[in-house]
Amino acid sequence: MSPILEMMGVFICMFYKMVRKYFFSFSSFTSPVILTFFFFFCISDTSQVETISKALQFKYGKPDSYKCLKKVPPVGEACIAKFSLDNAWYRAEIVSVYPGPPLKVKVNFVDYGNNEIVPLSFIRTDLIMKDFPRQCLECALFGISDNPKLVWDKDLLTFLHTQLVDTQVSVEIQAAPDKQGRLQTLIRTASGINLSELLLSMGFDDPSENTESLETCSVVPETFTRALELRKGGIYPVCVTLLPCKNIVYLQILKIPNPRDEFENELNDTHDAFLQLITMLQEKAETFSNLQEPMPGMPCCAKYSYDENWYRCEVTDLTENGAVVLYVDYGNSETVPIDNLRKLESQFIDFPIQVHICELYGIKSAGDNLSPETKDMLLKVPNQELFAKVMVPGKICQVELLIKTDDGDYKPAFEVLSEKK
Ligand SMILES: *[C@@H]1O[C@H](CO)[C@@H](O)[C@H](O)[C@H]1NC(C)=O
Ligand SMILES: *[C@@H]1O[C@H](CO)[C@@H](O)[C@H](O)[C@H]1NC(C)=O
Repeated sequence: MSPILEMMGVFICMFYKMVRKYFFSFSSFTSPVILTFFFFFCISDTSQVETISKALQFKYGKPDSYKCLKKVPPVGEACIAKFSLDNAWYRAEIVSVYPGPPLKVKVNFVDYGNNEIVPLSFIRTDLIMKDFPRQCLECALFGISDNPKLVWDKDLLTFLHTQLVDTQVSVEIQAAPDKQGRLQTLIRTASGINLSELLLSMGFDDPSENTESLETCSVVPETFTRALELRKGGIYPVCVTLLPCKNIVYLQILKIPNPRDEFENELNDTHDAFLQLITMLQEKAETFSNLQEPMPGMPCCAKYSYDENWYRCEVTDLTENGAVVLYVDYGNSETVPIDNLRKLESQFIDFPIQVHICELYGIKSAGDNLSPETKDMLLKVPNQELFAKVMVPGKICQVELLIKTDDGDYKPAFEVLSEKK
């Protein structure tokens, strides 16, 4: 069964995740997408992909009276999207939404692994083949270090393409997925060579080999490091940064006064480090160079018009009036003149995003908004009085908001607030 979450009055449905047992091997065809660093995607059997593709073209390929979506599907939702290169339809998942106009969404093609930014008219949500396993697995090469400084150049990627793409390789899963959910795999080329070993022997795991090009070409990771994933049952002090609709809150985790374990220590340290990072950003941002040729998806920083401070943001769209940016640690967006965008040093990119987008457990939106009063009260709860309890963890986790009363008990926040009213 595919997990189904209700959000913003729309069903989030996800494509069935193919779960491979650890420690076994299979042969695979590699998809044409090999990304930088050492990650790429494998497809277990091309004939299945072809069948899926044919079925999709059959259903979606005819010109018909299908109306363009009015509302953007939520992030994580399964959809069918048109790929601009061949105008064919593929199974996809919403990765992010770029506020318009015109509205655009970034999708990930789940059977191939590549991303594309497409207009809303390229998206269909009348799904077929939802329960069919994803045909694509994201893999990391076991034995090659996950060093963000290490960037594979075009020549190496070309070499890997010639060795791997559209040839049958064997993939042996060596360990459970890493933090990013990538399977740790041993890949053997068609000729039986251990790919990790080959790359190591060619010197491609040694950042020192790369230092010259590091200085000459800017090595900026493509996106900000993702937010830390919260654990089920955890109760964390939070502040609300945004309430886009009745059942969704954007939260930042605050300092944890008495961390009880490694994970809480990490959260605690991350919060302190974030405050330092932002302080440092104020000192340094003016000296950063302008962001050249901004494109949706680019990490950068901008001066927030409200308080004139610099914050980390991602370009989400380009308009006549400037770039639309999403402040990644808070969740709000604004349009900024392009000259006001600055390029970030990698230390500012390689730091987890601070905002957690959460669904309120047991609350349905039905298209409603919170009353302005309740909203205002929630945004103003003093620090260390508002807590979030993680009921269902995940990329968008479901939380219960709690308020700590004077006698130290946690009570549902909405109850306490309505009493105050
Ligand atoms: C393949 O190479 C990696 C890196 O050297 C090594 O860690 C791994 O043990 C090798 N696997 C086999 C089966 O040789
Ligand atoms: C957690 O944060 C508090 C408040 O700044 C600090 O006093 C404490 O030392 C931190 N704890 C750990 C384990 O880092």
